[in-house]
Amino acid sequence: MSDDTKKSASNQMWGGRFASGPAAIMEEINASIGYDRKLYAQDIDGSIAHATMLADCHIISAEDRDKIVHGLNTIRSEIEAGDFAFSRKLEDIHMNIEARLSELIGPTAGRLHTARSRNDQVALDFRMWVRGEAEKAAGLLKSLVETLLTRAEEHRATVMPGFTHLQTAQPVTFGHHLMAYVEMFSRDRSRMADCLERMNECPLGAAALAGTGFPIDRHQTAKALGFAGPTRNSIDTVSDRDFALEYMAAASICATHLSRFAEEIVIWSTPQFGFVTLSDAFSTGSSIMPQKKNPDAAELVRAKTGRINGDLVSLLTVMKGLPLAYSKDMQEDKEAVFDAAEALELALAAMTGMVADLAVNEKAMREAAASGYSTATDLADWLVRELGIPFREAHHVTGRAVALAEEKGVRLDRLTLDDLQSIHDGITDAVFDVLTVKKSAASRKSFGGTAPQEVGRQIRYHRRKLDKEG
Ligand code: ARG
Repeated sequence: MSDDTKKSASNQMWGGRFASGPAAIMEEINASIGYDRKLYAQDIDGSIAHATMLADCHIISAEDRDKIVHGLNTIRSEIEAGDFAFSRKLEDIHMNIEARLSELIGPTAGRLHTARSRNDQVALDFRMWVRGEAEKAAGLLKSLVETLLTRAEEHRATVMPGFTHLQTAQPVTFGHHLMAYVEMFSRDRSRMADCLERMNECPLGAAALAGTGFPIDRHQTAKALGFAGPTRNSIDTVSDRDFALEYMAAASICATHLSRFAEEIVIWSTPQFGFVTLSDAFSTGSSIMPQKKNPDAAELVRAKTGRINGDLVSLLTVMKGLPLAYSKDMQEDKEAVFDAAEALELALAAMTGMVADLAVNEKAMREAAASGYSTATDLADWLVRELGIPFREAHHVTGRAVALAEEKGVRLDRLTLDDLQSIHDGITDAVFDVLTVKKSAASRKSFGGTAPQEVGRQIRYHRRKLDKEG
């Protein structure tokens, strides 16, 4: 901006408040180059496909196409070498690249934008970027699932307390608990695959909003850019960002799963629980308390969820109430998605590392599983099964056994036969077979249950699924 513009731009009402005039403020609010430069590769790929199609459809000459493609490749190298001068005056990545193209090849550069608008251009670039990130997330989820499967296999029969309300409920196997996360992360992966499929339609050729009078071939550009086909409605194409919203919704759900797992790792690694020890690689010490080992990576995974959920809400809010078709509001779509993608990928990688390295303290898990009368349900079930007592009554009898154990300060399986018979005279020695945590866990063989053999079935199912899906 020239000094003249600055002077004429100063405003009596609010000019004093701003060091520079409104034109400079306009430039600042309008420009997206500070962040959308991330889309340079997609922008160049899209432009090359577009120029190639324009030549094939005889809208530009083959000579002009060659000049344009060569220029665009030069620009790609300049950007990748850090030699490209991005300018805020040129607003965004699209105009920065086009301006440089015209410096490099002259007026021919102006032919590239035939039958195209920045509206379909940005919709294309952003969609390709999000597509790449959804693919990355799916890949990272796969690694996490594979790591969990390895650890679950190792701990198919390791008994730990299962909780409800974070109170000891029933003994479960650690493998079973880990497999619960395999289920969640597999669904997250399939959510990524779903949104990838829906977003895989090419916006290029929708132009500003109404399509174009030039005889373009949208199927050609769609194919060249790896899409299943072109989008069907040009107004929708430049107006919608639901591909990004879907990706972020999937990211938020995944981050929510990650945060629950991270929270459990934080709890398990406290000296009070002592179920797991994090490797040094994924924890930090305290600068003042030498005994401490803090689960920072788990805490940060837990916290990243806040940003990711916030990013989703931010874009949902930008999009709500926007009239069709394009409005500049939509330029505000990018930063939230960039931020969410970075946070999600980091959280997934950190979680995979933590799970791979986690040292499991089987003894602490087993002892905790035996406390809190965790086999009370097994006693009740035994009374039903062996003595034919109705479950409600068995529940009552068991309650009295728990009260007696509490009074004597012993575990349920340490009550004597006399103790148990004083509560119900039908109880026999055989009851002790179900009162240990190991037997309790092993008895839960119902489909999807916690018994080691059932966990084995779950692991095999997911291994096959991974083999099939690749
Ligand atoms: N930088 C803009 C964005 O990200 C590109 C599209 C501009 N289109 C327009 N009609 N002003 O949305």
